[in-house]
Amino acid sequence: MRRYHLTTFGCQMNSHDSERIKGMLESLGLGEATSKEEADIVVFNTCTIREKPDTKLSAYLGDAGARKRENPDLVIAVGGCYAEAQQERIFDLYPQVDVAFGPGSIPHLADWVGVGGVGVERGRFGTHEHFAADLPQHRERGAHAWVQVSMGCNSSCSYCIVPAVRGREQSRRPGDIVAEVTQLAADGVREITLLGQNVNSWGRDLAPDIRTEFGELLRACDAVEGIERIRFTSPHPKDFRDPVIAAMAECDAVCEHIHLPVQSGSSRILKAMRRTYTRERYVALVAKLRAAIPDLALGTDVIVGFPGETEEDFRETLEVVEEVRYDSAFTFIYSPRRGTDAAAMADQVPEAVKHERLERLVEVVQRIAAEKNAERVGGVEEVLVEGPSRTDIALLRGRTRRNTTVNFTGSAQAGELVHVVVEGATSTTLRGRIAAAVAA
Ligand code: SAH
Ligand code: SF4
Ligand code: F3S
Repeated sequence: MRRYHLTTFGCQMNSHDSERIKGMLESLGLGEATSKEEADIVVFNTCTIREKPDTKLSAYLGDAGARKRENPDLVIAVGGCYAEAQQERIFDLYPQVDVAFGPGSIPHLADWVGVGGVGVERGRFGTHEHFAADLPQHRERGAHAWVQVSMGCNSSCSYCIVPAVRGREQSRRPGDIVAEVTQLAADGVREITLLGQNVNSWGRDLAPDIRTEFGELLRACDAVEGIERIRFTSPHPKDFRDPVIAAMAECDAVCEHIHLPVQSGSSRILKAMRRTYTRERYVALVAKLRAAIPDLALGTDVIVGFPGETEEDFRETLEVVEEVRYDSAFTFIYSPRRGTDAAAMADQVPEAVKHERLERLVEVVQRIAAEKNAERVGGVEEVLVEGPSRTDIALLRGRTRRNTTVNFTGSAQAGELVHVVVEGATSTTLRGRIAAAVAA
């Protein structure tokens, strides 16, 4: 049997696409290799959101190229956002690459990978005609499933490459989404995460007879028997309308957790980023969400060193972080992306300043996250068991409704909901012991 190995970079959308890439390859009769060294086909599902993943891919392709010199039959395939951004140029940059395909072209993979001795065909891009969800899949986490609700993004954040590589936003039909969620529940899935680049603008581009909005989708998923937890990512603050807040407050299965990217605390920088909200509007939205949804956990994304960001702008970011008190935050150094407006802006911030700001930001983010987790000690959390702990196999690992990872003692099966007494906390995890199983 020929075997493949897949390496995934980037966001949840890519992780989900990878499940479909695996499903496609397995439906063609390929098996999964345990390492790249044992594979006949190595596939990279790439990300190009910042320079770092580009650099990492370059090293991986160097290794793969060396193996190909020893074994000329090795097929090297590059999919995802980097492939889409580079298009045919990828074959000049990396002559060892046999197949390249964009995120919208996964369905065509079968035509290209040379299964059954058929020759390998080089690349195809930018079709975006299929939802990955309609393809066979190979799910990675037992009780949890990603569910794609839209593809692409209609925003035009000036720093971001995603609209260029993922295309215009297209919502998936509500009936198709609910049918998939119903099937997942029947297969034993208890938690779903609805995925879209701008997940809460879902529905607006649907045909008039089925046009609806994201709050209605939350309600429809909540009504599916067996689904205990619903999450979604990432919402855009500009599209967080009242019906969505009401649905979150009223649906039992919708978790008390929102990842709400702020990007900057300076209204001046937010404008240059084309985020279409101000600091004040963002903070007012947070207050409204907290008033409607008790015990809400908030996560965010922050970029430091956007072109023109002054010390005063950066201080405003720190102020917002202190004011909102996030439970978690992803912090990024601004990385110019070819073809985006921000990359062409004159007043780029020096690397040393960006790094210094990132350090200061991380310090504040971690202190607050540690304080917030410490507040949970002594309480009881409902935890969905995922399996053994990553750091200590004597412990179990799971997640709370507020999306905090918990390591705990006791015995339970993956996919079970248990109550855990919290006994300790760090800035990123809780630890504790099982109190009792939660009645189904
Ligand atoms: N669609 C999602 C995620 C986009 S990418 C959303 O809009 O929320 C995830 C995060 O990467 C963004 O929220 C942003 O914080 C960061 N990011 C995007 N482009 C970047 C760039 N050029 N440099 C640094 N960080 C970037
Ligand atoms: Fe990028 Fe902005 Fe779209 Fe998010 S909303 S994917 S940051 S353009
Ligand atoms: Fe990266 Fe593409 Fe996701 S650029 S962040 S993998 S949409």
